Amino acid sequence: MDALGRAISPGMTTLDLEKEALRVMEERGVRSAFKGYHGYPGYICVSVNEEIVHGIPGKRRIKDGDIVSLDVGIVKDGYYGDMARTFPVGRVAGDRMALLQATEEALMRGIAQAVPGNRLHDISHAVEKCATSAGYSVVKVFVGHGIGTRMHEDPQVPNFGRPHTGPVLRSGMVLAIEPMVNAGTSDVVVLSDGWTAITKDGKLSAHFEHTIAITEDGPEILTCRRKNRFG
Ligand code: MF3
Ligand code: CO
Repeated sequence: MDALGRAISPGMTTLDLEKEALRVMEERGVRSAFKGYHGYPGYICVSVNEEIVHGIPGKRRIKDGDIVSLDVGIVKDGYYGDMARTFPVGRVAGDRMALLQATEEALMRGIAQAVPGNRLHDISHAVEKCATSAGYSVVKVFVGHGIGTRMHEDPQVPNFGRPHTGPVLRSGMVLAIEPMVNAGTSDVVVLSDGWTAITKDGKLSAHFEHTIAITEDGPEILTCRRKNRFG
């Protein structure tokens, strides 16, 4: 993800980014978790502006001022990791940056709830509250998920919900938490390619995702090399 963040620039196509992703995956000896998953044709997902998730890399050219969501899942030694990040490209308008910041903050607020003894929807509620209090909507038809020796394991992790409900969280659980936050309506349309999900009103959408482990000492972000506020 860091390498792709450095590579992304105006004038590239989404396919160019995928090629770079594939190069890095080969260099690191990891395999794409997405390629062939339920027939998904790409190695990563690249979703631009009004595209929410599951954008198939192709001819779309990235422009100055775009926001580009990259979703990357890999398998190494039988274990899955899944993460997403929305990058601003070039000079991005302030209101667009605000959407990115709120979405990342919603993810971090959700992660902060991933502690033993809390309930699953404490995570969901924290994500939703953060996004909606900033004036945005959360996508409801796509959710986070358990992850481990498969990409999608139980439980589903919605980005909305009632606090103090859902399964009790325990040390050792590993979750992919992934808010998709829209500037306008939360309604989604899937394009005729069968994958690309866009906002119904054509307004912007951002997506941030981490794979995290719940430990006795609190949440640990597995898809982050740097020191972070969760250790
Ligand atoms: N992060 C997304 C998810 O957990 C990516 C899946 S893309 C797919 O569903 F192509 F593999 F479906
Ligand atoms: Co995921």
